[in-house]
Amino acid sequence: MTVTQERPAVEVADHQQLVTLKIRRYDPEVDPEANWQEFQVPVEKGDRLLDALHHVKWYLDGSLTFRRSCAHGVCGSDAMRVNGVNRLACKVLVKDLGGRDGDTITVEPIKGLAVLKDLVVDMDPFFEAFKSIKPFLITSGNEPTRERLQSAEDRARFEDTTKCIMCAACTTACPVFWNDEAYFGPQAIVMAHRFIFDSRDEGADERLEILNEKEGVWRCRTTFNCTDACPRGIQVTKAIQEVKRALIFRKV
Ligand code: SF4
Ligand code: FES
Repeated sequence: MTVTQERPAVEVADHQQLVTLKIRRYDPEVDPEANWQEFQVPVEKGDRLLDALHHVKWYLDGSLTFRRSCAHGVCGSDAMRVNGVNRLACKVLVKDLGGRDGDTITVEPIKGLAVLKDLVVDMDPFFEAFKSIKPFLITSGNEPTRERLQSAEDRARFEDTTKCIMCAACTTACPVFWNDEAYFGPQAIVMAHRFIFDSRDEGADERLEILNEKEGVWRCRTTFNCTDACPRGIQVTKAIQEVKRALIFRKV
């Protein structure tokens, strides 16, 4: 069911345009069923989706609930499904969503994780998968008295996967994860890649064994949804393939 906001006509300045945000709302304390609600929002040329959501929250309906923090694509907290595609609300301009006068932009929570309220999902399973691949440097022997040296070539081996901001856009774009929350998901594999291919790390075998499990890297069906969804431009599918190859050939 779609509920259209019943409010006085929205004032639109000359330099603004009016767009409709169609937002999937869910509040288990009010209604056990989710529903769609539409809001008319005046936007300016450089407005991001996050600005439009703030307009709704600050001026139209303070109960609208979503996560955000940095507002600059760094913290990874505002991943959501926008017009059917995972995006960071702070990184996407309304005008790039087809946001012209009268256009409707649909906004929903990311898929595959339980919705707690409106656009906020339960991230616990996502963080559990992240923790399970041991996302920290594993070394043996005494701690060195100076920094661990690494060549530029060795660093380049895992440069791409260091860019992850843990937004979950990749994992929640994955059809395998939608149907099986136990699957580690692309982000956990990206993070494993970041350490497996780090020349200073000695835990590659341990992590590869973890990812060799039933819910590990072999569940990936190479749909590339994860790569398309990543707001950091990480070659997620390529990283997953490299981990698969490392498992087959055990050459890290
Ligand atoms: S790999 Fe990209 S999409 Fe996935 S969690 Fe990291 S930054 Fe987000
Ligand atoms: S609010 Fe931090 S990444 Fe968007």
